[in-house]
Amino acid sequence: MNQQMGKFITLEGNEGSGKSSNISYIQSYLQNIGIDLVVSREPGGTALAENIRELLLHKHQEPMHPMTELLLVFAARAQHFNQLILPSLERGAWVLCDRFTDATYAYQGGGRELPEQYIAELETLVQKEVRPDYVLLMDVDVATGLQRIAERSEKDRFEDQEVAFFERVRACYLARAKVDKQRYFIVDTNQPLEQAQKQIEQYLQKILLESGIDG
Ligand code: TMP
Repeated sequence: MNQQMGKFITLEGNEGSGKSSNISYIQSYLQNIGIDLVVSREPGGTALAENIRELLLHKHQEPMHPMTELLLVFAARAQHFNQLILPSLERGAWVLCDRFTDATYAYQGGGRELPEQYIAELETLVQKEVRPDYVLLMDVDVATGLQRIAERSEKDRFEDQEVAFFERVRACYLARAKVDKQRYFIVDTNQPLEQAQKQIEQYLQKILLESGIDG
């Protein structure tokens, strides 16, 4: 018997875009209407993939080559995807993931300026035909986002990049969102949290409607 695949929703955004505050809002919203939901994150999501996350975020004395970074991101993703994401979707659960391959296009493609083709090839190798059904992009001005993260304690290897890197990351996310308005929803997180959440709620209602669920 063929079980219908669950929906795969990802949350993306540039640094300081308010992903963490909004993911718990989305999680409660979907669980309150009875959806069987698996919440995870990338890089990471399984014990092994979380070890790779440590390698990626930690600052090392030896500089990490962009190609090493790209392959580590996909090594973590291969583990997470096969161990957790795909089995969950196949049993009909919905998966809500804090970052996925759009982040690789934005950070390794946009930020590190690696050819998009490399990412597309690895994406197909690791995920076959599976892509997120919906991507919620939390978008904030780079300056505002950086100001928000400046208030946090210690910066990781990515947070420590120059402003131009984050401008490229944001531009890449926005460019991807603009060419596929059916799958991508841009949430303006320059506005106060309650207003951003109203916008998120509208998108969630659209997703539920398209999935035939009475929200
Ligand atoms: P987080 O701060 O949202 O937990 O994400 C950790 C960092 O990992 C963030 O700075 C973006 C980076 N990252 C990539 O560079 N490529 C990727 O594919 C993913 C998933 C994250």
